[in-house]
Amino acid sequence: MMIALGADHGGYELKEAIKKHLDEKGVEYKDFGTFTGEAIDYPIIAKQVALAITSGECERGILCCGTGVGISIAANKVKGIRCACCSDCFSAHYTRLHNDANILAMGGRVIGAGLALMMVDTFLETEFEGGRHARRVDLITQIENEN
Ligand code: RB5
Repeated sequence: MMIALGADHGGYELKEAIKKHLDEKGVEYKDFGTFTGEAIDYPIIAKQVALAITSGECERGILCCGTGVGISIAANKVKGIRCACCSDCFSAHYTRLHNDANILAMGGRVIGAGLALMMVDTFLETEFEGGRHARRVDLITQIENEN
């Protein structure tokens, strides 16, 4: 599974910790930046990671900013993106099971790397349950197509 990674300056250090973790696990990824701790506007990175998912270049994405909120809002503006901003493993697990989320967003100023790495693992290992949840995800897509 190819993972798209991205962060602004607020999530840069957390992204680097996630890269190290994925390297250790042998999980492949593409890093869409940022590559330094200098300030960069999070929508720029969110868009690149989101388009990597919708183009099929990558299967899932992980985005980090200071809170995880701004970068998730921006990613969710791209059609076909279901980006979940999470701060706990339960939500990271269920957003795959029930929402078929294709991007996980986290806040580098909110959670520590230990928790974030556990969330990354559950997000990448959990498959969508389908069934009644597929109907609900289809309804989300319907809203997207109406606007
Ligand atoms: C950048 O200072 C900060 O606003 C950003 O990382 C993020 O928290 C936005 O939602």
